[in-house]
Amino acid sequence: MLDLTDAAFVEDPYPAFAAARDRAPVQWDDGLGMWLAYGHAEANAVLRTRALGRIWTDRAPAERFGQFNLIHRNAILEMEPPDHTRLRRLISAAFARGHVERLRPWVEELAGSLVDGMVERSVAGEPVDLFTGMAEQLPVEVIAELLGVPQADRPLLRPWSNAIVKMYEYGRTTETEDAAEVAAAEFVAYLRDLAAQRRTAPGEDLLTHLVTARDADGDRLTEDELVTTCVLLLNAGHEATVNVTGNGLLALLQHPDQLARLRADPALLPTAIEELMRFDAPLQLFERTATADVELGGVTVAQGQKIAALLGSGNHDPAVFEAPDTLDVGRTDNPHISFGAGVHFCIGAPLARVELQASFGALLARTSSLELAGEARRRPEFVIRGLAELPLSLEPVATHG
Ligand code: HEM
Repeated sequence: MLDLTDAAFVEDPYPAFAAARDRAPVQWDDGLGMWLAYGHAEANAVLRTRALGRIWTDRAPAERFGQFNLIHRNAILEMEPPDHTRLRRLISAAFARGHVERLRPWVEELAGSLVDGMVERSVAGEPVDLFTGMAEQLPVEVIAELLGVPQADRPLLRPWSNAIVKMYEYGRTTETEDAAEVAAAEFVAYLRDLAAQRRTAPGEDLLTHLVTARDADGDRLTEDELVTTCVLLLNAGHEATVNVTGNGLLALLQHPDQLARLRADPALLPTAIEELMRFDAPLQLFERTATADVELGGVTVAQGQKIAALLGSGNHDPAVFEAPDTLDVGRTDNPHISFGAGVHFCIGAPLARVELQASFGALLARTSSLELAGEARRRPEFVIRGLAELPLSLEPVATHG
């Protein structure tokens, strides 16, 4: 049984995963009341098996969770085909690789200026935190720019998102639940307003694109789907990226040989990013519900039962990854499942890769040294795995003349 609220487990869940995988790849967890898939093949199968669906059930009581329910009931992440297919087609074009690739120079410039700011403050003897200095700012800025959220409103986004995603954790409090509903209500009201503005004064942004797609063909995207899609893109568009930046940089700082290797050979950046995502996944658990009996990993998941894919556990399965607990920035055979698999595979993966390559690229190219300046502080949540703080000391690259 896993205790997802246990501090020692959350600090480092990988030994517990390894012990569980040794027993069986899929096990019933009494505490959680569902099956857990620990093996790579099994976690992958959970995400790909069509009879294991994302079946949304409204949180009760309905009057307490009205807006929270609204932004989930209408979300592609919570839908199954054919509704899912229709909505996914509408939004995925905007995130196709070619389109996202065009953003790369702008994202690189943004990453560069954020790193320069951190270096300046560090040289001046001021405390620098990776999150406030770059890890939070960059992904929020990028997704807000894409959707067309005005600059002045961007500071609202992360607090709303943070409050909403706390609902995905286990062992949450009444206060957390109330805060999530308040945030959902404010976010929905804000986006209804912004969508109305774009309807009368269209822009070049994704929000305008989504508004127009709906208006051009009324039955394609309802008002609630439009608002929900924006919330999902704004939230999913930064939560995980923030945490890969934090988890990834901490992993590199704890493995100075790999940090030095990457500094010496920046061409390793793409494989390094995949390895950082594998090594310490920012999203650890996704649930599915069986719509029919399903045989998986030697057990039968009965119709109506739930099963969760443990992505971090799958990513450390020795059946698939050689020396899975070794960080290897040059790892090429790396079928990690941090972006999911199957019909819900992350729409934003190409964008996240551009952002992470830009962030880590700038961190290496614009510093001569990167060190921990204090203790990294981990957040107590399990599902969205990340740090609250990563104090850094950065030194500029030597200038000549
Ligand atoms: C490193 C960063 C990211 C990671 C690790 C990540 C991970 C994931 C995972 C695991 C899923 C599948 C969930 C499931 O199967 O239940 C997913 C879905 C999704 N992600 Fe990401 N994501 C990241 C960045 C982004 C970004 C930047 C965007 C913004 C465009 C985004 C938008 C989405 C959307 C819209 C879905 C739902 C897709 C669907 O249901 O068809 N993600 N992501």
